[in-house]
Amino acid sequence: MSFRPLNDRGVLARWKEFLPVTDKTPFISLNEGSTPLIHSPKLSTLLGRGCEVYIKYEGLNPTGSFKDRGMTVALSKAVEDGARAVICASTGNTSAAAAAYAARANITCAVLLPAGKIAFGKLAQAFIYGAKVVAIEGNFDDALRLVREIGETEPIAIVNSINPHRLQGQKTASFEIIEDLGDAPDFHLLPVGNAGNISAYWLGYTEFHQLKRATKLPKMVGFQAAGSAPIFHGHVVEKPETIASAIRIGNPASWEFANAALRDSGGAIDIVTDEEILRAQAWLASEEGIFVEPASAAGIAGIFKSVDPARQSERRMPLVPEGSRVVCTVTGHGLKDPDVAKEQCGAVIPARADKAEILRLLA
Ligand code: F0G
Repeated sequence: MSFRPLNDRGVLARWKEFLPVTDKTPFISLNEGSTPLIHSPKLSTLLGRGCEVYIKYEGLNPTGSFKDRGMTVALSKAVEDGARAVICASTGNTSAAAAAYAARANITCAVLLPAGKIAFGKLAQAFIYGAKVVAIEGNFDDALRLVREIGETEPIAIVNSINPHRLQGQKTASFEIIEDLGDAPDFHLLPVGNAGNISAYWLGYTEFHQLKRATKLPKMVGFQAAGSAPIFHGHVVEKPETIASAIRIGNPASWEFANAALRDSGGAIDIVTDEEILRAQAWLASEEGIFVEPASAAGIAGIFKSVDPARQSERRMPLVPEGSRVVCTVTGHGLKDPDVAKEQCGAVIPARADKAEILRLLA
């Protein structure tokens, strides 16, 4: 039996002809990408009229979020350019990915996190991957401001999505969806925080459309948390608040890109409340077996909002025509934020159940 080296996997190996890499670029990879596109029978039934809903489960990337797609490119280019250290601000997932890929590349990584506002799993990741963790008095926007300042004077590579290599890597999720469906979907729904991901998806869709690998372009529909919705409101939110800590952002860096994607695709930005987010998170786990972190459920909450008769007047998402194919990206794994999950389902382990109790539970 011949041994097949496994370094032909990962975003860079699979999509290198569409990425800013050359023969000289070292591939810093953890075999990220190629995540499953899972059909959701129940969400399809919910939308009705012959529509089909698919879930792109990005929580199955190596560090548990879509950030790995961009980080493999950003770290590979940083190493190629001779960087000794990388830095990012983060609500938790970017820092986990940066720390893991920096560990792999043997370079120093500093992560600036809003104090007290990072989900426990993500914090654990930053530490165990060996990043230098700095807590910032303030929110993500304050941390990113500091990162930009440091990047101006120090020879340190910024690996937030203001680094264009990040969006290049993240666009590959669109390529995979087009390959899996045989064409682009009609709608693409996803959560929006710093607005890099919606911009990256649009980049990928338009690129494959131009190359005639897809016959159409989807309408991009982004969902912000109601308490952190600067794009929806059209102005910076000074004190963003939401239980979905990953998207607790008041001044998104890729605001302009996102606006262009929304406009050019004929899509929309909408909001969902924390309550709707948590309900969608619990529903997705208990009804479809897919456990995602709260922010990741924003798009799912958006589907529920779109079919709620009581919400029609305030709905921004365009009507989904009969027979549409809808993709919803769920961006991060549920294990990232065990505290919120535990609290919301009131997990109490019944003590010392006997056989009769077990049979009663199963009845
Ligand atoms: N979902 C999750 C789980 C995220 O971690 C993020 C962003 C988003 C959605 C929104 O994506 O920012 O591209 O619009 N997390 C960043 C971070 C801000 O630092 O991990 P976006």
